[in-house]
Amino acid sequence: MPLKTISITNGQRQVFDEGEGEVLVFIHGFPLDHRMWQEQLKEFSREYRVIAPDLCGFGGSESVADDAVLSMKQFSDELVEILLALDLDIPVHLIGLSLGGYILGQFQKDHAMRIASMVFCDTKSTADTEDAKENRYKTARVVLEAGSHSLAEVMGTKLFALDTPESTLEMMRTMIADASPAGIAAASRGMAERNDFTDQLGTFRVPTLVVVGEHDSISPPDEMREMSEKIPNSEFVEIADAGHMSPLENPQEFNAVLRAFLRWVELG
Ligand code: MLT
Repeated sequence: MPLKTISITNGQRQVFDEGEGEVLVFIHGFPLDHRMWQEQLKEFSREYRVIAPDLCGFGGSESVADDAVLSMKQFSDELVEILLALDLDIPVHLIGLSLGGYILGQFQKDHAMRIASMVFCDTKSTADTEDAKENRYKTARVVLEAGSHSLAEVMGTKLFALDTPESTLEMMRTMIADASPAGIAAASRGMAERNDFTDQLGTFRVPTLVVVGEHDSISPPDEMREMSEKIPNSEFVEIADAGHMSPLENPQEFNAVLRAFLRWVELG
């Protein structure tokens, strides 16, 4: 079975693990879980070993106390624990979407030796504005009072481009409803307090892909292009007909771009 339960210092984490070969690690966005990568997990596990954890408080992973803060550092350190629990003490290819990209920024700072290449999807290197921070704390309060599903409708319109099929929206609602309210609240607080890592971009040493849906309104293409321009060994690609969830909205194009990038990395 590709789904495993792993024990780490702060509890149990559910991890998708399938395939053989070089290791690709997919880090999901907020407030979702490994299922948002379903089209990549299926495709890339034929040629690679594909790992996709449910972060603390999401999907099938254990949660935290109602008043906890899940910092990018905690998420990133947990990722190392998960890799070591899977005997993966080697550099891996890391692919992070949005929250996953914020975690990747922290991982790059603390654990650069564990990275073979990086893919920043629909994310940003900047920190929250004061207004955005306030909204995160409001989200934390609302979700603890009204439940995780209360976030589904609000997020739906923001995450996807227009004309997203109902089946995709329904899947997103299921993932959000399955996340624990305390996990959503703790990750919201952690994102509110995350650091800006723009100044680090010029120090990245591994091949990096920066990829974004052309209609992404949360991490707009212009901002992501600027981010890519600051990274020495980086490529920037816009995915057509997609918003913030480019791997889920246009998997054919996203997978082709990721495949080409991995080939380029392999060729050295
Ligand atoms: C995500 O997809 O992870 C979220 O949009 C991140 C955020 O709210 O900044």
